Amino acid sequence: MSDDSKIVSTSEAQIAVHWKEEELINPSEEFIAQANLTDKSIYERFSLANFPDYYTEFADLLTWYKKWDEVLDTSDAPCFKWFKGGKLNASYNCIDRHLAKNKNKTAIHFVAEPEDERVSHITYQELYTRVNEFAALLKNTAKLKRGDRVTIHMPMSAELPITMLACARIGVIHSVVFGGFSSSACADRVVDSNSRVLITMDSYYRAGKLLNHKEVDDEACALAEKGGQKVDTMLVWQRYPGKMSSPSPLVEGRDIIVNQELKKYYGALVEPEQMLAEEPLFLMYTSGTTGKPKGAQHGTGGYLAYVTAMSKYIQDIHPEDVYWCMADIGWITGHSFIVYGPLALCASSVIYEGVPTYPDAGRSWRIAQELDVNIFHTAPTAIRALRKVGPDEPQKYRYKFKHMTTVGEPIEPEVWRWYYNVVGRGEAAIVDTYWQTETGGFLCSTVPGIQPMKPGSAGPGVPGIHPIVFDETGEVLEPGCGKAGNICIQNPWPGMMQTVWGDRNRFVESYFGMYNKDRNSKKWQDWPYMTGDAAVVASDGYVRVLGRIDDVINVSGHRLGTKEIESAALTVPEVAEAAVVPVAHEIKGKEPELYVSLKPGIEATPELQKKVADAITFQIGKIAKCKNVWIVPDMPKTRSGKLMRRVLGAISNKGDVGNVMTLANPEIVEEIRKMVQG
Ligand code: WTA
Repeated sequence: MSDDSKIVSTSEAQIAVHWKEEELINPSEEFIAQANLTDKSIYERFSLANFPDYYTEFADLLTWYKKWDEVLDTSDAPCFKWFKGGKLNASYNCIDRHLAKNKNKTAIHFVAEPEDERVSHITYQELYTRVNEFAALLKNTAKLKRGDRVTIHMPMSAELPITMLACARIGVIHSVVFGGFSSSACADRVVDSNSRVLITMDSYYRAGKLLNHKEVDDEACALAEKGGQKVDTMLVWQRYPGKMSSPSPLVEGRDIIVNQELKKYYGALVEPEQMLAEEPLFLMYTSGTTGKPKGAQHGTGGYLAYVTAMSKYIQDIHPEDVYWCMADIGWITGHSFIVYGPLALCASSVIYEGVPTYPDAGRSWRIAQELDVNIFHTAPTAIRALRKVGPDEPQKYRYKFKHMTTVGEPIEPEVWRWYYNVVGRGEAAIVDTYWQTETGGFLCSTVPGIQPMKPGSAGPGVPGIHPIVFDETGEVLEPGCGKAGNICIQNPWPGMMQTVWGDRNRFVESYFGMYNKDRNSKKWQDWPYMTGDAAVVASDGYVRVLGRIDDVINVSGHRLGTKEIESAALTVPEVAEAAVVPVAHEIKGKEPELYVSLKPGIEATPELQKKVADAITFQIGKIAKCKNVWIVPDMPKTRSGKLMRRVLGAISNKGDVGNVMTLANPEIVEEIRKMVQG
């Protein structure tokens, strides 16, 4: 954590004090009458004094081949093992166990982007058949076995959860890379996870265009090989079964068209592997404070128990619900709350291709009406966009939500109110769920059947999660004190990541480095988990998250590491230094803005500016596109040579740069300000 980023958190703390407390709004009696969790004694049962045994209530939601011997093993703290010795299979829990009673029920509704293409409804029986057949292909054609890693770079499609569940069935660890990530970002993840198999789809639709996706992964394979990991098998699903919809040719000996190859396995059944609870289920790469994304490793038993409980108690999913989470499955929200949680509960989960605002602002509400969606889950960035382009659209459609979720970034109270009044028609209960890729499931939220909602605040720790806020010196900031600090969690929980793939040290340093006092401690009490977020806790325990305290920018609810963008800029040979700062954006929340200085003797040109912008799209993807690339004569620096991002941030956001006279080059500040602000 750099010094100047701490200053950001202090100024955010001051803002927090001036925010007014919002009023509390109670979920309707109709909602509470049907809610899965209304028993307030849960907070007593899930108190720290009863830790960790209370978590067996979550594990009991699953079907186990063998019950665990120990709830929590701390012998390798902070790499905690949950439900040690227990055996289960995630695909069995999400599919097989529902067949006896619900085989004809829809598991997945897939909505294609072109509206004249049919919506497909995949029953649990069909999901079972397709997952088994694909698992047979993975085993026999791709020669994958328990413990191997596989990278999946696929767009939103029914085939994506089928692929994930087939991996889970045979104990293969999946690493899904968001479909919009570039070839280079995908290659990095192939290399880090040592995947010799890459699974892709030939094409997909986004905002009216059929994109050639295979091309991206051809390039990813080439880049991965340069990075030391050969992809010997690329499995290509067809967007239109039976027909290739990508002009990129197949590579002899490497590429296999899944839809053709599957014919060999029609009707095949693959016995689920009996996985130990602590065996990894998947990796999900996420941005941190350094240039290299880290692979958050999630275990099978703890993770699945946790997300199932969160889906049941916080999202209030019942088997008869039609649930639509708008996230992309390529992010943790999609893993936990499109695939594993809802399917473990035997709900019907909606997956859609494209974007919410194309072909028009009514698309989301039309889908909700057609599929009779009653639980809706999205992010503030989508809510802001939908509110902007079609504030009155929801009223034109007949749908009825009983429950809505928001996730991923702080939501402004007025945006929250539009979501509540217009989208939810003042009837749906809202939960604002605060959590992270690393945490597997929710950290803070109201339990909708128990607590009122407070616009702009997530809520207290969910049952079992005990948050604590520390200041920079490690002093505890009590709820209601009005000061913001680093929000940490006092106890481990089953959904928590197990480690950073292949880098235990990085796991320890990134998440426990600041507040752990004894690196050798085997006691869970000595390992508070550090989220990296600044938050204020009100006297009623409700947590308001203010944003990251580290070098991470939250763009549209997606995390981007400033170092990652800066490293991408530095791949341009002419660039000497690069600094990224977050700028406020009406829809996205934040947007990165980039400053670069050039090597001596090199002239700033528009071509060079474009070259830098292109390098970022190439290295990471369009999602990391910067608002501007400013080529500056020099960076503002302290006398010890430290780059002052804070000063650049103030210029970008038209804020106060503060006293810059102590800098080594104070004159540069005014020069940059003129360039940026005109
Ligand atoms: C932010 C997404 C405010 C936070 C599930 C966190 C939030 C980061 C909320 C994790 C929320 C997530 N209110 N901020 N309800 N939810 N965040 O890993 O800064 O993509 O650390 O996981 O998003 O982003 P990630």
